[in-house]
Amino acid sequence: MRRGVEGAAGRRGPTAARRHDAVRIIEAKRDGRELDDDEVDWIIDAFTRGEIVPEQMSALAMAIYFRGMSDREISRWTTAMVDSGSRLDLAGLTRGGRRVPTVDKHSTGGVGDAITLVLTPLLATWDVAVPQLSGRGLGHTGGTLDKLEAIPGWRADLTGDEMLRILSEVGAVICAAGADLAPADRALYALRDVTGTVPSIPLIASSIMSKKIAEGTGALVLDVKYGSGAFMTARADAEELARVMVGIGTAADVRTSALVTAMHTPLGRAVGNALEVAEAREILAGGGPADMIDLTCALAEEMLAAVGIDGDPRDRLAGGRAMDSYRAIIAAQGGDPDAELPRAANVEELRAPAGGVLRWDASGVGRASWLSGAGRSRPGQSVDPAAGVMLHRVEGEQVRAGEVIASVHAGDAARIPAAVAELGNALTVDASAAAPGAGGGADPGGADSGGADPGGAGADTAVVGPAGTIVHRLRGW
Ligand code: URA
Repeated sequence: MRRGVEGAAGRRGPTAARRHDAVRIIEAKRDGRELDDDEVDWIIDAFTRGEIVPEQMSALAMAIYFRGMSDREISRWTTAMVDSGSRLDLAGLTRGGRRVPTVDKHSTGGVGDAITLVLTPLLATWDVAVPQLSGRGLGHTGGTLDKLEAIPGWRADLTGDEMLRILSEVGAVICAAGADLAPADRALYALRDVTGTVPSIPLIASSIMSKKIAEGTGALVLDVKYGSGAFMTARADAEELARVMVGIGTAADVRTSALVTAMHTPLGRAVGNALEVAEAREILAGGGPADMIDLTCALAEEMLAAVGIDGDPRDRLAGGRAMDSYRAIIAAQGGDPDAELPRAANVEELRAPAGGVLRWDASGVGRASWLSGAGRSRPGQSVDPAAGVMLHRVEGEQVRAGEVIASVHAGDAARIPAAVAELGNALTVDASAAAPGAGGGADPGGADSGGADPGGAGADTAVVGPAGTIVHRLRGW
């Protein structure tokens, strides 16, 4: 096993030796010209070495935001970002003395998306290794590391050797990406975050894929979300992002596929760090919300297919093996899987203002959770592990006026009023609608209707059934 097999910041292939002028490159992209390979290599290398000042890179990011990039440019840009740091080589990884394939999943982020906490241990019950390098949350979408840090003792930062040992012993790690993994992306993302250039398909695709390629996984399944709680609110944009990312992964010899899934309403019932860990444990124990279980099993099937394993995730989840695997993964990273999770000192209930069918807007619920203290507004801020929102009634359910439908949890009582107000704004109660399944309501299509098109070809942000409903699947292999 080697770490850092391909170059480090500032050491580049022969093409990067030719000097370019940053201003000419910015002007070229501003005017809509395609950058050639040499220009892309040079700009990423020079940026990583600090030769391109942040103002110039921000201007280029804005030009890319408006002008876009060809598939060739995106592919080259991604490779250059991978080459800006070191690259893990997991090809020789063994478990129990046998070589195992590596397979990972990446979600573009949503509200209540604790799928990784269930999916990773579930996959590790097969002869595979799951190198799940994850991030922290920013804004209204949560981060896997923040969620797991709610578990007493658990740590996200591992050395390369620890990561390889845990992968080989328990079959999975969930940890922070090291600083030497795609450092150009780290620096560029920090600029994009403060210059309004995050929502650009070429920049998002290259950012995500550079880290996944650098982590060394052999196969990758992408959960590309669309809807109010996702980066991409329009389905067509999510499908394009999926196409571009599958293309980048495939070109880099990573067996890549994507499921495009709905994120118009939160996944599951819990939104917040400890609350989502508790919900994940409930699923691993054989219970939990159906939308989470359906999407977890659909992603697991896709991951198994990518490495040529014919398995039944539902059966394994129900049989308790995934819970054993979860306990081993948490313990391997210093966490106590049996420890009590933090509880908020302040909990306020929200009642239905009228009777009818409920609808929760994912983005509003995410913001309410963020306001309660579960999220951060600046990188590096701490989060309240116990804060968040519990939805006692979910989208599509019929409720009575005055019934308790949700609760807001916060360590800081002063945060409660704004969070409750935001949660109220995220709610719609339709008095005239029949609940799905009651009296012939439309069948929205389940998450295991893979490849189905419940929203219709032109549906953009239209409601398509439960969160996690799969509207499109794309395989690069
Ligand atoms: N996640 C990333 O890693 N990069 C982006 O640009 C957006 C989401």
